[in-house]
Amino acid sequence: MILIKLGGSIITNKEKALSARKKTIDNLSKSLKKIKEPVIIVHGGGSYGHYWSVKYDMHTKEEKYNLKGVAIVKNSMIELNKIILDSLIKNKLNPYCLPPTDFMSGNKPITKKIKEIEKIAKSGLIPVTYGDALWFGQQKTYILSGDKIMTHLAKILKPKLCIFVLNEDGLYSDLKSKKLIYELHSQRPSISENKMDVTGGMTRKVEEASKISKMGMNVFFVNGNKPERIVKAVKNKIFEGTLFRGK
Ligand code: IPE
Repeated sequence: MILIKLGGSIITNKEKALSARKKTIDNLSKSLKKIKEPVIIVHGGGSYGHYWSVKYDMHTKEEKYNLKGVAIVKNSMIELNKIILDSLIKNKLNPYCLPPTDFMSGNKPITKKIKEIEKIAKSGLIPVTYGDALWFGQQKTYILSGDKIMTHLAKILKPKLCIFVLNEDGLYSDLKSKKLIYELHSQRPSISENKMDVTGGMTRKVEEASKISKMGMNVFFVNGNKPERIVKAVKNKIFEGTLFRGK
């Protein structure tokens, strides 16, 4: 089982509201087609979900957010999700759309439902889910990031590999010179913050990746503009990016 998170930065143009990078998404679909083992896909919000959650001041903390904001964030995520599903279908894959409400209750994952997702993936369908605005309870809602979903799924399903697809080669030890970190042994690197992101941008990804690798699984950060690197990682265990080695 392989878990793949398609980050908002790779599937959308983060500089421009509501713009999907359709060509990049198609190239990713083509590469995913070459993977011959069960896969689960999670995608982020990028210039869809993030754009609106910033506008309506919605965050990961459970609060009474603007209801129109909740509706609009959810709607925009469906729109982006549809673009991903269309691309997968066009490339002869069989996605199985699962909004996170299907396996989350409040802020807790439903173990039984997540085990069902594994069965769906093993049947040859590709479960596809995404970060979203979710009901918490007592009039409160929150933004659940796709990165957090990765941790929930990894904890229960223990995938062979978790891949975070980015718009960068991986993690850099130095942003200026873009010196790539090839391997980490679940230590937490210090990185600079990304302000425009309600769910914490790269900081969140590194946090979740560290958690997952501490649970014993390998986590790989890879550049989605070079989608063949995803295939190489899965098929040949060649990691051209940043690998967090599971303990
Ligand atoms: C974002 O999910 C969900 C919403 C803002 C609705 P992520 O936090 O996983 O998105 P990216 O990958 O960082 O864009």
